[in-house]
Amino acid sequence: MAHILLRELDIPNIKDIDVYLAHEGYQGLRKAIAEHTPDEVIDIVKASGLRGRGGAGFPTGVKWGFVPKDVFPKYVAVNADESEPGTFKDRQLMENNPHQVLEGALICAYAIQAEAVYIYIRGEYWDIADWLDEAIEKARARGFIGENILGSGWSCEIYTHRGAGAYICGEETALLESLEGKRGHPRLRPPFPASVGLYGKPTVINNVETLANLPYILDKGAEAYRQFGTEGSPGTKIFCLSGHVNNPGNYELPFGGETTLRKLIFELGGGTRSGKPVKGILPAGASGAILPATDEVLDTPLDYESLRPFGSSLGSASLIILDESVNMAWAANKMIHFFSHESCGQCTPCREGTYWLRRLYERLERGEADLYDVETMKNIAAQMLGKSICALGDFATNPVLGTIQHFGEDYEAVLGGDGSGDASPDEKEAAATEAAAD
Ligand SMILES: Cc1cc2nc3c(=O)[nH]c(=O)nc-3n(C[C@H](O)[C@H](O)[C@H](O)COP(=O)(O)O)c2cc1C
Ligand code: SF4
Repeated sequence: MAHILLRELDIPNIKDIDVYLAHEGYQGLRKAIAEHTPDEVIDIVKASGLRGRGGAGFPTGVKWGFVPKDVFPKYVAVNADESEPGTFKDRQLMENNPHQVLEGALICAYAIQAEAVYIYIRGEYWDIADWLDEAIEKARARGFIGENILGSGWSCEIYTHRGAGAYICGEETALLESLEGKRGHPRLRPPFPASVGLYGKPTVINNVETLANLPYILDKGAEAYRQFGTEGSPGTKIFCLSGHVNNPGNYELPFGGETTLRKLIFELGGGTRSGKPVKGILPAGASGAILPATDEVLDTPLDYESLRPFGSSLGSASLIILDESVNMAWAANKMIHFFSHESCGQCTPCREGTYWLRRLYERLERGEADLYDVETMKNIAAQMLGKSICALGDFATNPVLGTIQHFGEDYEAVLGGDGSGDASPDEKEAAATEAAAD
């Protein structure tokens, strides 16, 4: 099957605008403008069933339909923050086929009649941001960006904006705050960005991969798109495979059918480097609950819903594969450290919960924790669930609850406390020193 997204694997040097144009480049945008009204474009995207690739899988056309018609100006924000551990698909798209991403963003902008597109790109991708700036200038020179695009009377600018390395700025409302020059603190919803977004104006925020699907959909039609994937999850998905596999990388496959974790890990990924059996799979980076590598899990066709019965989710499909050498309590410690560092601190359950979980995991790592501490971890996670402004507070409970549920023996293997659940003498001393310093 030819690729819809990773087209550079079929067409060398497609990042060059001339090569892109020679292979149906900007044809989706041309058709959108010449053959359809903005509302018709929204209807086509709804009919395609395209779902957001940033993690939540929300239907893209439905989201665009929420944008009010009579409020101006309107904006598109491209989420290129790509901070989820194990996710590196947007990078490949922007690096190797930037015009496909720009064309997708322009189709979205035309559909909602936006006057500007802001590409919010993670700070570490500074080189890609520079290349995107060059691609924007090339597209402008051909009449795809700027005043009166392709003679339609509609005008739109595209700007890149570099983030500064905060995971939370990938959350869509924190991203908007950051774009406005403020601290990246998620906003309370409602109102949703579709009605009150950037600078208080209607804004669509879409992930890079989501937008990269649009040139195909507008050029070939919703029906053609639906020949790939399943009824509920149409199209193809880029699976980011990393961890203990021989061939890590991005693999584009249709949802459902033969697309299983077994195929990804053993056929495409070449199995584990150590030759040891796979022990656990993080299907959605640090954010989704870990899965044990049972036959049932390995053979389930992957789509947005299929991992729910196992208590996990596909998220942005950043699959981190862990072999039997890993103690899952150790892995949970790493993830909790990440969430505690990245919590923006606005909500008490998330700020305090991740902090105390980190303390408990550090105690576990020192061999000083007991079963009482593990119960406390579960209690803290339960107190955090559903009690925060954004989903980070919920994500942070997954490493804890998932690893305790499936790999309880890994915790038992590192318990060494005295059974009282009390702090060790060293911890008490450290806490007293800390308190005195405050
Ligand atoms: C803590 C957190 C981090 C997120 N990071 C990203 C990210 O790096 N990239 C992304 O596209 N979406 C990220 N999201 C999801 C966005 O909030 C939002 O759902 C997405 O950009 C919508 O685009 P889509 O509908 O095309 O998926 C994150 C969400 C949360 C809660
Ligand atoms: S859940 Fe955490 S990261 Fe999200 S707004 Fe609250 S404190 Fe910030």
